[in-house]
Amino acid sequence: MFCSPGSGRIAPSHKGMGITEADWARFLEITASVAGELGVGPTEGGEVMAFLDTLKADILD
Ligand code: HEM
Repeated sequence: MFCSPGSGRIAPSHKGMGITEADWARFLEITASVAGELGVGPTEGGEVMAFLDTLKADILD
């Protein structure tokens, strides 16, 4: 999958861009808000949030 941590593409595409904790927090906020508007339930939403957390270390500087 394109954003799988094992694909080796996420870190090269994001590390060094200066993405901060604040950027990450805003990204999660927007994602949760859109998921809410689309009616994504807590179970599925929680799974996506847990998956996104596995990418965090490869994205932030
Ligand atoms: C705060 C969070 C994020 C920010 C600010 C961000 C920002 C960016 C930016 C600016 C680019 C363009 C890089 C370029 O063309 O030079 C990019 C590319 C990309 N991002 Fe993100 N990103 C974030 C999170 C994510 C996440 C969570 C995923 C996957 C689920 C993701 C997947 C990708 C992919 C697949 C590309 C294209 C890489 C390529 O062309 O090889 N990004 N991102």
